[in-house]
Amino acid sequence: MGLIKSPKEIERMRQSGRIAAEVLRRVGEAVRPGVTTAELDRIAFEALKAAGADPSFLGYQGYPATICASVNEVVVHGIPSEEQILQEGDIVSVDVGAYYRGYHGDNACTFPVGAVAPNVAELLKVTQEALRHGLSVLRAGIRLGVLSHAIQSYVESHGFSVVRQFVGHGIGQRMHEEPQVPNFGAPEEGPILRAGMTLAVEPMVNMGTYRVEVLEDGWTVVTADRKPSAHFEHTVVVLSDGCEILTPWDES
Ligand code: MF3
Ligand code: CO
Repeated sequence: MGLIKSPKEIERMRQSGRIAAEVLRRVGEAVRPGVTTAELDRIAFEALKAAGADPSFLGYQGYPATICASVNEVVVHGIPSEEQILQEGDIVSVDVGAYYRGYHGDNACTFPVGAVAPNVAELLKVTQEALRHGLSVLRAGIRLGVLSHAIQSYVESHGFSVVRQFVGHGIGQRMHEEPQVPNFGAPEEGPILRAGMTLAVEPMVNMGTYRVEVLEDGWTVVTADRKPSAHFEHTVVVLSDGCEILTPWDES
């Protein structure tokens, strides 16, 4: 069940994860009113190339860009555009994957554009904390459902909802490996985790309904009620007594 990585492989994933995290941080520093999501995409592409890495997403099932840039009611898979100019009060979820020496690192963060409404700031905080809270229960020997349940109950206790239609995933030589990593479910569900499994944990949290729709372009996922959504993601490796974050974008 799932792929157990060797210490050598985990070291490779630490490298691709570090690159993905550094690129995400750089993109975050460029987020401000007036910038286009296409400009954010160019920054990510250049930063990946400068690090000797390739974008994980570009060309994946025909995806046309380096990053996903998902604004406000867009949950995930927003396609960067020259026409999309960020405005004060918006939020933008940036998702970026780095492919380096045979392994992928995948991470995401929702950035505020200038000052945002208090309930939107709360949505970002709760989503980031939900990821931290989920990772805090992660260790070898638990069922995956323990993590899923921890994320869901944290989010719902704050009055928000978790997306069901999209989930996290195993990651390694391929961007999407087994198992699927849902952000909802019961503690007794799912496979038992083992040390050396590498997972992309990525709660998508909606202010209103958990229901989503995919737009005509076949990519853009929006909330069914068009209320805002946030997305935070880390690639991690499961350890006997916890987990190690391989994409440390939120550490100094
Ligand atoms: N982090 C997202 C995922 O795990 C990014 C995929 S976007 C795609 O699915 F364009 F590559 F599909
Ligand atoms: Co992912």
